[in-house]
Amino acid sequence: MKHLMNPLDLSVEEMDRMFDLAGDIERNPEKYSHICDGKRIATLFYEPSTRTRLSFESAMLNLGGQVIGFPDGGVSSAAKGESVADTIRVVSCFADICAMRHPKEGAPYVAAEFSKIPVINAGDGGHQHPTQTLTDLLTIRSLQGRLDNFTVGICGDLKFGRTTHSLVNALARYKGIRFIFISPPELRIPDYITEMLSSKDIEFSEVIKLEDSIADLDVLYMTRVQRERFFNEDDYVRLKDFYVLTQEKLRNAKESMLILHPLPRVNEISVDVDSDPRAAYFKQVQYGVYVRMALILTLLGLVPEEYNA
Ligand code: NCD
Repeated sequence: MKHLMNPLDLSVEEMDRMFDLAGDIERNPEKYSHICDGKRIATLFYEPSTRTRLSFESAMLNLGGQVIGFPDGGVSSAAKGESVADTIRVVSCFADICAMRHPKEGAPYVAAEFSKIPVINAGDGGHQHPTQTLTDLLTIRSLQGRLDNFTVGICGDLKFGRTTHSLVNALARYKGIRFIFISPPELRIPDYITEMLSSKDIEFSEVIKLEDSIADLDVLYMTRVQRERFFNEDDYVRLKDFYVLTQEKLRNAKESMLILHPLPRVNEISVDVDSDPRAAYFKQVQYGVYVRMALILTLLGLVPEEYNA
């Protein structure tokens, strides 16, 4: 049985096939509206979420399936002390597939070990968020027509931002990708990621000021400072408004640059940027539904013949 813990669990070819399928879902939604009749997804969310949980639920409903789950560990038996291993053994009796978000790094991996159904990591602490990466890549591919030969700027909380860790892992497999990591020194991208890039001879640089590199970028990936992962509030307050993208700062950016953000946004993108044609963060949310539909079909073995090369 296949689970999805990290974007690297899928080969580049498997991802490309999933993006083709997501494109077909976008163009022909009615063709997919009953493939999951009688199937259920369980959404087990021990951490807050709007987009990820609701997009998994929308994805399953769009496929004709049903949804069970909880939006908060506090209303589940976790509050009575039940382990993730026991919860997933129970949920395996109720659902066909499960998406789990958990504040502890590795919790969905434990679930996968004890599960009888495919488990999708919907974000584990400050570690990985593979389905956000599928969303990000599908957005870039759909709007720019390719996934190679880009200079990608990733800005904000690169230490705790799990979306950035998964995104770098996945993009590093495409040709001609160059990364510019833009963060305050305290929120640098983890060493294990820069070591992976160096070992593969992938070009990257680390800078503090967004203004210095914005003109070089083909994609600007903004992120929120992850308040919930800070050890003290003073550090969070000091760093939270370190970056604020405004129309003024975009003056030097390329006309074709894509602005992405996994959302939620706090202050890091001014609302005056929302109407800029380069702002793609709300389109990204819609692509997140298509790609999760494609993922559910893939993990349940229900992909239509023509995409199962
Ligand atoms: C992200 C997450 O949960 O890691 N949100 C999301 O899933 N779209 C980013 C964040 O919370 O800042």
